[in-house]
Amino acid sequence: MTDPKRPHTNVVTAGRRPEWTAGIVNPPVWRASTILYDSVADLRAAAGRDTHHRLFYGRRGTPTQWALADALTELEPGAEATFLYPSGVAAIMAALLSVLSPGDELLLVDSAYDPTRAMATGLLARMGIATRFYDPLIGAGIAELIGPATRAIFMESPGSLTFEVQDVPAIVAVARAHGLVTLLDNTWATPLLFPAIGHGIDLSILACTKYVVGHSDVMLGSVTANAAHWPRLRDTSLQLGQVVSPDDAWLGSRGLRTMAVRLKHQERSALAIAQWLETRPEVARVLHPALPSCPGHDLWRRDFRGASGLFSIVLDRGDEAARAALIDGLDLFGIGYSWGGFESLAIPVDPLRHRTATAPAFAGPLVRLQIGLEDPDDLIADLAAGLDRFRAIRG
Ligand SMILES: Cc1ncc(COP(=O)(O)O)c(C=O)c1O
Repeated sequence: MTDPKRPHTNVVTAGRRPEWTAGIVNPPVWRASTILYDSVADLRAAAGRDTHHRLFYGRRGTPTQWALADALTELEPGAEATFLYPSGVAAIMAALLSVLSPGDELLLVDSAYDPTRAMATGLLARMGIATRFYDPLIGAGIAELIGPATRAIFMESPGSLTFEVQDVPAIVAVARAHGLVTLLDNTWATPLLFPAIGHGIDLSILACTKYVVGHSDVMLGSVTANAAHWPRLRDTSLQLGQVVSPDDAWLGSRGLRTMAVRLKHQERSALAIAQWLETRPEVARVLHPALPSCPGHDLWRRDFRGASGLFSIVLDRGDEAARAALIDGLDLFGIGYSWGGFESLAIPVDPLRHRTATAPAFAGPLVRLQIGLEDPDDLIADLAAGLDRFRAIRG
């Protein structure tokens, strides 16, 4: 057997320590608040020890949570450890709070997930932390934005809604030269398609709610850190009182085992559907990182091992009513936000509402599609009928 294991093998074996599972395949649910000690001396000794991966108190977790955290760490070559959170948003905030202090400045990509922007303009601003939004395609040019107070660079690649792929290695190189911390929301790619720590990122964030869980029934987040940033991340997260329910961690571990095959299927289907959409006259542009028309496509080819199942289309003209007619009548696509599950979704998105640093280079209503595990031909038939409805109203 070669070592390190290939990612598709790793996703099956990672985190399944026999000493935690006693031979049970998927780490079972250990629920706990109180842990009992044999004596006062034992209780005192436990409090003085490092509690990482040791039963101490329910908030520090049990083997159920440790197994998932360990598995996510093993998927990121070069990573030290992972902390779990009750949502992706909680993970992003904990990661930011672990590196930022009052008076610091954060560089935040303009294409970031809207609630991430809201953290910057909300709680972080209230704490005296300033944010500058930057062009997702800035690459090494980010050096020009760095000032004396700049402390960290937050990336999301590709960006939510508009799918610009960032030059992560170039930004990491600039950050290192200036002693800045790098954070990446890696939810779209997961470590299977973009091992972020191996690409030099300090804190790699996942909304596990999406592809890790994979079944649209659990909220979960994670931050995986390199050795330099793990102690601050862990301390900050413990001080924030963050803990994940063992039941949710168990479902996360269960979902993780099939993540590679789900992603592969979703990649193939999404790409076929995206290529078909490119041929439709009602579609002005398809924003899918694996297509040359997507901003940053060359970077995606250089850095990523594949594509997942989420992308957007820009419709050729049309108003709100025409776009709603397309989406409302879809049979197989649900209308809902949280992607990465087994089922397809379609939502209207309006990225221009959120952008402040740069406007994307396209006009026209957008629809974001999450491609699930259905037969892609059925999804294409559903979308074809939707585009007919759109054209009938748009004229
Ligand atoms: C890119 C991205 N990051 C983070 C999140 C937040 O995850 P959660 O919904 O688990 O808080 C989402 C949710 O849609 C997302 O799309």
